[in-house]
Amino acid sequence: MKQIHLGVFEVAGPQVGGTLSWPHPLAESARFHELDHWIHIAQLLDGAGFDFLFFADGFGFPSIGGDLPEMAARGGINFPSMDPAMMISALAHETERLGFVVTSSTGLDHPVQTARRFATLDHLTGGRVGWNIVTGASQNTVAELFGHETMNAHDARYDQADEYLDLAMTLWEGSWEDDAFVADKEAQILAHRDKLHRHEFVGEHFRSSGYFTVDPSPQRTPVLFQAGTSARGRAYAARNAECVFVQGTTVEQTAFNVADIRAKAAEWGRDPNSLKIMVGLTVTVAPTHDKAVALRAEFDDLQTDEVVAVLYAGNTGIDLLSLDPTRDLTQILDAGGPIGQMGQSNIDRFVPKDGSTPPTVREILDQLSGRGTRGLQLTGSTTEVADELERLIDATDLDGFLLEPIFAPGDLEDFARLVVPELRRRGRMPAEPGTGTLREQMLGRPGPHLSPDHPGTRFKVSRPAATTPASAMVSE
Ligand SMILES: Cc1cc2nc3c(=O)[nH]c(=O)nc-3n(C[C@H](O)[C@H](O)[C@H](O)COP(=O)(O)O)c2cc1C
Repeated sequence: MKQIHLGVFEVAGPQVGGTLSWPHPLAESARFHELDHWIHIAQLLDGAGFDFLFFADGFGFPSIGGDLPEMAARGGINFPSMDPAMMISALAHETERLGFVVTSSTGLDHPVQTARRFATLDHLTGGRVGWNIVTGASQNTVAELFGHETMNAHDARYDQADEYLDLAMTLWEGSWEDDAFVADKEAQILAHRDKLHRHEFVGEHFRSSGYFTVDPSPQRTPVLFQAGTSARGRAYAARNAECVFVQGTTVEQTAFNVADIRAKAAEWGRDPNSLKIMVGLTVTVAPTHDKAVALRAEFDDLQTDEVVAVLYAGNTGIDLLSLDPTRDLTQILDAGGPIGQMGQSNIDRFVPKDGSTPPTVREILDQLSGRGTRGLQLTGSTTEVADELERLIDATDLDGFLLEPIFAPGDLEDFARLVVPELRRRGRMPAEPGTGTLREQMLGRPGPHLSPDHPGTRFKVSRPAATTPASAMVSE
């Protein structure tokens, strides 16, 4: 029987998922500036046996017609947001075993900066960190913010991201031998010079030569997560990711994406079942069905068309409120424009390729109300929720869920108190919370390092030079 892995989707901002919930009396998420708020959540998840706390991130802000919409500020829709990476060491210090996964885009910082930051976090957390690799949503606002004139095309961003990761892994895996850092006071040797290796990386997008200045952290390479479910995104995940967040709003689509990623991973010579694939899930659970439905209705009552439009424009560049509500999305796709070079998945899902009738803009607004970028949605009693989680795992071949709270931390407390013990009782979660590095907990690996079938192991120091790709040489 397949075990269920659990993470929580958060953002260092007022609320997650592109929906409106912070004003609700139960929500404390407007306290996002307070470390105590996050420590409370992290300790709750740590004790309950969750695998990790995930912080989504990005520099983008909502934009409609080239400007920040009023609703983004008033409702706190994907705005404002702080840098979550800054909180991780404090949260790790206050927890025992919980993993921390943070997004960092491959579009802005140089890979050397990113590699250094994650190696540092992996040291400070004792090997409990993961990197969610994204090529970036909301690209137009990010490009403007950074003074870039053009926005890279969607698939080209993923090509660049392959190389980005190759360079980062060259630094993590290829620079220092395992026993290079000794801190031997008696011999007065901090690190053995002959066990440090110079890299010469010459790629199409990045160049780097020299030495990596951070000695190997417990996991060396942080656990590699990836989110982005377009065809090119899935191919990226199959090559690189150890854990994948898939966008999923229906069981069929999720099952398709899971199967596709596993099949493509096998083509890379990887064990397809070693990838842990999770989907975002909004759960509203209460001791009785009626109480859960009533709580969910309070959330739904907060949502408006303006909220939906802000989020959708931020993800796709499309202003739904400017379109003819009686027609479908082809009214704008046929007109051309930058569409499709931003988040592709949120367009694809409303333009069916199987010949079925696409939804009208009015129907899209209604379908997205309360959904935002959230994945699957589930409301019910403890038994109903546990039954459905088991059914979803079995129907989709998923490995777990990323809970997307609506009224944090209250709804996370409800899930931990009601659903986790039930999943344990059914043998779907370990009797005791897992321990060790995030990689050992999530992937069940016997050690903290990359699996031998992961392409990143080709950058390892010990690999014979003859088989190292020309674009990523590790030399003495
Ligand atoms: C669970 C989940 C979490 C995500 N987190 C982020 C994030 O933190 N930052 C970001 O820019 N994109 C994030 N994304 C991805 C974007 O929503 C978007 O899909 C992606 O950047 C565009 O790639 P695609 O066209 O391959 O989907 C996330 C997606 C999912 C499903």
